[in-house]
Amino acid sequence: MDVTGKVVLISGAARGMGAHEARRFAEAGACVILGDVLDDEVRALAEDLGDARALAVPLDVSRSEDWEGAVAAGVARFGQIDVLVNNAGILRFSNIETCSDEEWEKVLSINLGGAFKGIRAVLPVMKRNGSGSIINISSTAGLKAFGGVSAYVTSKFGIRGLTRAAAVELAGHGIRVNSVHPGNIDTDMVEDLYPNFNHVPMKRMGQPDEIANLVIYLASDASSFSTGAEFVADGGETGGMPDLFAQPS
Ligand SMILES: NC(=O)c1ccc[n+]([C@@H]2O[C@H](COP(=O)([O-])OP(=O)(O)OC[C@H]3O[C@@H](n4cnc5c(N)ncnc54)[C@H](O)[C@@H]3O)[C@@H](O)[C@H]2O)c1
Repeated sequence: MDVTGKVVLISGAARGMGAHEARRFAEAGACVILGDVLDDEVRALAEDLGDARALAVPLDVSRSEDWEGAVAAGVARFGQIDVLVNNAGILRFSNIETCSDEEWEKVLSINLGGAFKGIRAVLPVMKRNGSGSIINISSTAGLKAFGGVSAYVTSKFGIRGLTRAAAVELAGHGIRVNSVHPGNIDTDMVEDLYPNFNHVPMKRMGQPDEIANLVIYLASDASSFSTGAEFVADGGETGGMPDLFAQPS
């Protein structure tokens, strides 16, 4: 899974899985453009990774002008963008009856609109290069519904449609587009959320590294024949229900 010399733009890179992926890419010899609304945190991470490898850019993924600025700054520093990881996302708790217009629009505009705007912004650069890999972070909540997070579920299902639409439009330009569907991963987003992991056959959370491995695979040429596809890393959660008919031993 060679990503040496690739230039990778990651949204939501200040913390959680995005920050972890940034470190893994930089360690593997890639250059990273790190975008987030948490300016201080993302700048500190870029400083830690070093000027030669990392650039922090202010990025609210729901704002087209921020994407344009991030792409321009990244190209000015590193000359190209080979990989886009649409990772930024927010989780809000409300069911359909109680979800306000503002909350619905905010979740959709960040989780789904942000990915769309990111793809649109990097296209001129990737088309010019004649290659690219775009990785959209969805969720197991994009494969099955969870009650009480209706806007989030809708946004993560939407990522699958966006991924396929982009994949078929862009294959002719050498640009691949795939989605990643993590299960419960140990980050701030889900801290103390789960009482147990009985719904997961592996009976545990995943670690950010286990998603980074998949993202790096999709970024690399090792996944050269994969586009418009869905890659799941969830400890078996969407495979089926564990223990439903378990007999007492
Ligand atoms: N943690 C999980 O269990 C889990 C499971 C499935 C999918 N996901 C998805 O993985 C992605 C990363 O999640 P995480 O667990 O690392 O979350 P996190 O909350 O730890 O990190 C999310 C990052 O996105 C940034 N962000 C939020 N709004 C933004 C915006 N408008 N513009 C730019 N950046 C913004 C945050 O500042 C933060 O740095 C998200 O898309 C999330 O929905 C997470």
